[in-house]
Amino acid sequence: MDRLKDKIAIVTGGANGIGKAISGLLAEEGAWVLVTDIEDDAGNATVDGIRNAGGAAKFCHADVSSTADVNRAVETAAAMNGRVDILCNNAAYLGDFHAILESTDDEWSKCINVALMGTHYFTKATLPYMIKQRKGSIVNIVSIQALAGMMTSVAYTATKAALLGYTLSAAYDYGRQNIRINSLCPGPIQTRISPNPDNPHYKWQCDNTVLGRIGAPREVAYAALFLASDEASYVTGATLPVDGGWTSK
Ligand SMILES: NC(=O)c1ccc[n+]([C@@H]2O[C@H](COP(=O)([O-])OP(=O)(O)OC[C@H]3O[C@@H](n4cnc5c(N)ncnc54)[C@H](O)[C@@H]3O)[C@@H](O)[C@H]2O)c1
Repeated sequence: MDRLKDKIAIVTGGANGIGKAISGLLAEEGAWVLVTDIEDDAGNATVDGIRNAGGAAKFCHADVSSTADVNRAVETAAAMNGRVDILCNNAAYLGDFHAILESTDDEWSKCINVALMGTHYFTKATLPYMIKQRKGSIVNIVSIQALAGMMTSVAYTATKAALLGYTLSAAYDYGRQNIRINSLCPGPIQTRISPNPDNPHYKWQCDNTVLGRIGAPREVAYAALFLASDEASYVTGATLPVDGGWTSK
């Protein structure tokens, strides 16, 4: 219950899916959570759910690709008690499945500006607080699509792979300030972007895991909680797949 007592956390893309589950679990464990997203109704509903369950949270509209939005969000979180302890960079632009010949410049821009630059903007705005505290944990939600070739959008895959490099570089640069930065790579997780059970792609996803099933957002959230918590105090620069064994084969 109290693994994150008194911690201030920010979750990007926290209105839906995996980000919603992470926001809820961090709050269950005692963190005050700033849920940020571009979908205001869903974001406010996430916060209502957290509060109804006895947790503490606030919604802040923030497009991760806007430095003005990002700076305002981080200031909102820090206004609680001057700290930002946990940042979970979860928001991403999720397009269709297609190959290189069908990819467009617009799609590349969106993938890069949201998942990569969004992570960078939030990390850059949060680091000064973590440096001052000499402590912090940043969890970047990547994807097993950065680890294994599969049907996808090449822009999404390339952006997610770049995030692995970003994590390694950031972990190296800020380790001596006791700031830990890790990548969490979900496999197929049941959210609104996932195929339904009657779609052949669903069976393909199940069959590619060792466990033979799609994961739940909460199963990713538990891994994020571990990386965010002091229990992971000696874990930094790591890449943690949460993928039912997909990348273990
Ligand atoms: N679901 C999966 O199978 C799966 C697998 C691997 C990785 N992931 C990753 O997990 C993360 C969450 O995905 P999900 O499945 O929960 O999708 P989702 O669509 O349910 O949630 C994504 C959230 O990000 C928000 N968002 C999108 N653009 C934004 C922006 N510019 N600024 C702020 N918020 C923005 C959306 O509004 C949404 O609430 C993503 O990084 C995704 O790449 C998901």
